[in-house]
Amino acid sequence: MTDTVYDNDALQQKAKDHLWMHFARQSTMATSGVPIITRGQGHHVYDIEGREYFDGLAGLFVVNAGHGRKRLAEVAAKQAEQLAFFPIWSYAHPSAIELADRLAGYAPGELNRVFFSTGGGEAVETAFKLAKYYWKLQGRPTKHKVISRSVAYHGTPQGALAITGIPGMKEMFEPVTPGGFRVPNTNFYRAAEMGAPADDLEAFGLWAANRIEEMILFEGPETVAAVFLEPVQNSGGCFPPPPGYFKRVREICDQYDVLLVSDEVICAFGRLGHMFACDAYGYEPDMITCAKAMTSGYSPIGATIVSEKIYAPFAEGNTSFYHGYTFGGHPVSAAVALENLDIFEEEGLNERVRENSPLFRAELEKLLDLPIVGDVRGDGYFFGIELVKDKETRETFDDEESEKLLRGFLSKALFDSGLYCRADDRGDPVIQLAPPLTIGPAEFAEIEQKLRGVLTEASNRL
Ligand SMILES: Cc1ncc(COP(=O)(O)O)c(C=O)c1O
Repeated sequence: MTDTVYDNDALQQKAKDHLWMHFARQSTMATSGVPIITRGQGHHVYDIEGREYFDGLAGLFVVNAGHGRKRLAEVAAKQAEQLAFFPIWSYAHPSAIELADRLAGYAPGELNRVFFSTGGGEAVETAFKLAKYYWKLQGRPTKHKVISRSVAYHGTPQGALAITGIPGMKEMFEPVTPGGFRVPNTNFYRAAEMGAPADDLEAFGLWAANRIEEMILFEGPETVAAVFLEPVQNSGGCFPPPPGYFKRVREICDQYDVLLVSDEVICAFGRLGHMFACDAYGYEPDMITCAKAMTSGYSPIGATIVSEKIYAPFAEGNTSFYHGYTFGGHPVSAAVALENLDIFEEEGLNERVRENSPLFRAELEKLLDLPIVGDVRGDGYFFGIELVKDKETRETFDDEESEKLLRGFLSKALFDSGLYCRADDRGDPVIQLAPPLTIGPAEFAEIEQKLRGVLTEASNRL
């Protein structure tokens, strides 16, 4: 296939005139233009001027099988030709059926029922509505509140936003759906600041899990429908669960009849070396929400996978779940997802992640010799590097410093160095890494070198 030739100036002007970027300052279009990415191959993407970038974030935690997979494009074309669209509203088509069967097979235990959407926020929204409806069907209509963790991101629909724990992303849209309550996350690096056990990871995990029990009791168990947790919390910079955390959370949920939702929009499909990340930590949720890497981004889809217990009231009689999306379970996306999951199996991507993760971590931990690098944390192919002003005291940057460092320097310097990743400050400033799962030790070293160059310069600016 010959590459399409693009006119950068014309596209910049059209973008400036008409394109509204997501989660971004439109004003940057006028001052510095927008990076236009035109092509991807393997773990690289290329901009309109042909410059190559290491895709350190798999697009947006999405392109787990890597860019430029011809077979995924071919399967999409074949499905579009055969049946481009039909809804799963009272009908079905083979690819959605096959994909539901496949996902149920990967999901643990009793999670056998699959409700499709078009992305992660809709999957979370679906789980929220289903949790409320489920308890109403059990004759317990006051169980409608939901608990999630501080700084966690669960999507932007107003229901999902009620679960999202980042005040700065919500205040302008208040009042969002009521009923969302926040508990501490598992940021062990900041344990002392939370008044939690700071020198014993397991004790910290127990402390953090018990905050969920405390919130259930504060609000009253008869008012709480569900707890939404990511296996590894992304926002804030990769907080893995301490050992024993999810075991205790499961006990608490069982004790108070509260549903446990594992929001795996980022963590599923290999990010942590398993199809579903709850398997990495040995817990069985009542629902899993997933999206992003199900197709490695070659077409959009999301899903809420539900236990037999929650499904039971819908299995017979006149009860319907009055909820859905025109494009939920889209035939092209479902066909692509099946092929993508074949690639995972054939290439052993999960095994690869499990095997290589310690090497990736070790490579990134080398950066701890830099004064600005406070903490390196994560799991699988999913790491966060927390930047600090003072390593001894763990003092973080104030808003102005953060603005200067992250927006004014780091984001651009990283990109200019040929590494696409994210410098984020939804909690304390972190660099987030979640590359395609196809990379190995040579590429870990390449990432470390690129980061070292930029972070050394950032350290010199402290
Ligand atoms: C944990 C989590 N849940 C939900 C979402 C929302 O997904 P989407 O952007 O596909 O709506 C995201 C997006 O990054 C996420 O990370």
